[in-house]
Amino acid sequence: MELEELLHHIVSDDHRHACFLNTLSLQENIGARKISANEQPETSTYMVLKHAAEEHRHAFYLKKQIAKLSTSACPTYEPDYLLAPYSSKYYLNKLDLMTSRYLKETLQLAGSALKFAAYLLVTYAIEVRADLIYPVYQEVLNKNKSKVSVRSIILEEQGHLEEMIAQLSNFSPAWEIHAEKITHFESELYQNWINDLAKTI
Ligand SMILES: [Fe+2]
Ligand SMILES: [Fe+2]
Repeated sequence: MELEELLHHIVSDDHRHACFLNTLSLQENIGARKISANEQPETSTYMVLKHAAEEHRHAFYLKKQIAKLSTSACPTYEPDYLLAPYSSKYYLNKLDLMTSRYLKETLQLAGSALKFAAYLLVTYAIEVRADLIYPVYQEVLNKNKSKVSVRSIILEEQGHLEEMIAQLSNFSPAWEIHAEKITHFESELYQNWINDLAKTI
């Protein structure tokens, strides 16, 4: 199923839409925690702190949007309040594992260097995906005259992609070769996630 069609099915049902917002909120929260978990004295720059703060805000903002729908709230991230709970979490964790394995094998990285490189590449791939998903989602929201809006997130996600590219260029002049590999892994996991979301309709 195409993303737009899938989102249309989700947005047209308030209960399903609430669970979807909660699922995106969970993923933003996982992303935010990933950034915070990788903070080191020598890498906690203004840029990194801003990025972590914004991802935490996205998680909160998406959760807050649920109140605009006429349905009961999704108080927590427990499976009952999520869409495709397993693959929604697995998607990010598995990408982390695949990226770490790739970096170990191709760059022989280990320890904190491996953790940091994996964080840069995984976050980059997620930002590329966010820049694709949120604008399509906003368009579907407009078409359905939904009270929900993700406009404020779209602007910040574009900034994040630029920030990750700046950090990756610092990390390696060959970053694009690695990034291409990781976005390839990500595409596969993303497709699994979309297929699982489609099954909930
Ligand atoms: Fe975000
Ligand atoms: Fe982001």
